[in-house]
Amino acid sequence: MRICVLGGDGYCGWAAALYLSRAGHEVAIVDNFLRRQWDFELGVQTLTPIQPLADRIRVWQELTGKSIELFIGDVADYDFLSSMFEDFQPDTVVHFAEQRSAPYSMIDRKHAVFTQVNNVVGTLNVLFAIKEFKPDCHLIKLGTMGEYGTPNIDIEEGYIQIEHNGRTDLLPFPKQPGSFYHLSKVHDSHNMMFACKIWGLRATDLNQGVVYGTVTDETSLDEALINRFDYDDVFGTVLNRFCVQAVTGHPLTVYGKGGQTRGFLDIRDTVRCIELACLNPAKAGECRVFNQFTEQFSVLELARMVEAASRKMGLHVDVDHLPDPRVEAEQHYYNAKHSKLLDLGLQPHYLNDSLLDSLMNIAVKYQDRVDTSVFLPQVNWRNARNRRSKLQAAAAIAALESKS
Ligand SMILES: NC(=O)c1ccc[n+]([C@@H]2O[C@H](COP(=O)([O-])OP(=O)(O)OC[C@H]3O[C@@H](n4cnc5c(N)ncnc54)[C@H](O)[C@@H]3O)[C@@H](O)[C@H]2O)c1
Repeated sequence: MRICVLGGDGYCGWAAALYLSRAGHEVAIVDNFLRRQWDFELGVQTLTPIQPLADRIRVWQELTGKSIELFIGDVADYDFLSSMFEDFQPDTVVHFAEQRSAPYSMIDRKHAVFTQVNNVVGTLNVLFAIKEFKPDCHLIKLGTMGEYGTPNIDIEEGYIQIEHNGRTDLLPFPKQPGSFYHLSKVHDSHNMMFACKIWGLRATDLNQGVVYGTVTDETSLDEALINRFDYDDVFGTVLNRFCVQAVTGHPLTVYGKGGQTRGFLDIRDTVRCIELACLNPAKAGECRVFNQFTEQFSVLELARMVEAASRKMGLHVDVDHLPDPRVEAEQHYYNAKHSKLLDLGLQPHYLNDSLLDSLMNIAVKYQDRVDTSVFLPQVNWRNARNRRSKLQAAAAIAALESKS
């Protein structure tokens, strides 16, 4: 297949592009390096030293003999996207190219507007480009489990059968997104459903859980292929942050009671899910939804797991409960269905001791690159205007340390 990976310089996109290339597909990467710019803006960097994209691709080609085409540009720029479509003629587009941090979207008005414009316009452009240049192309779009929120009923995969006043219908599952970022994903989902209905496009909306892990079979072939490992308060994910905090002797920062429960999956399962979606495309006119995660954990459960892994390494770790900067339920019912990818053949890698050890070892290996001033949350949902400066964070860290 000719598969175009939008956002292929990012965390999921890079791992997926290599996996699909190794599996024998013709792969193109599209990216405009926004993610690297956001790191500069926030004064953060991935724990792992990622290489420039052109170097990564060159090393991949030298090692495997497989080439990856590269298109540098903005998905939200329709002229650029059109020329890419005309040139590459993808059979499948895998769309990762969005601003994906909830805290980033909650910094202030500017960041909320940017997130929604970048994400919603980008996805609209992809839908129009498919319609105009390759109507049979299958769109695989990354959504998020966060679109559903935490309802007090089981979460279905995209649609729910509802009976109302004696009549029944299969309707989109109600959405209760928890940030302006999550709202952008809900808007995307509606636009995709609508485009499939009116133009007969084929789309798969992958409502992904939180991804952990850095290593895949492909990225481990050479240090130059290493993937991102984000642990900061804005782009970092909770498990990464806990591992880095444990290794550097800082308390694990649980927000509130820590009962917030979410779906999680290993990056090795992300890439396999993408492949499964590519190989089993949606039908013309179909906008199907898969819940893409393998296990659910509460934040406190993850903290306890990292605490136990640390103890095995001879590290003493405290767990600290900070006021929750987000507006969210700190304890709630959560049971989300996730059988459709398993039915297609996904064999999950579950979070176990050896995976936790490998995450901790990455944190140990790159300990010199850790910036402890980005551990604490600096974006509060209750503020319309957050200042996020590294100086403030350093002061807050010092206060936390003196307390513990
Ligand atoms: N990482 C997770 O845990 C997770 C969980 C659920 C859903 N997702 C979704 O998966 C997708 C990928 O996430 P990720 O963690 O790899 O993010 P990432 O930030 O590491 O990668 C996104 C990539 O897209 C690029 N990009 C963004 N806007 C662009 C634009 N307008 N034009 C061209 N390139 C653009 C960025 O430069 C970056 O390289 C996102 O849509 C995200 O919402 C991720």
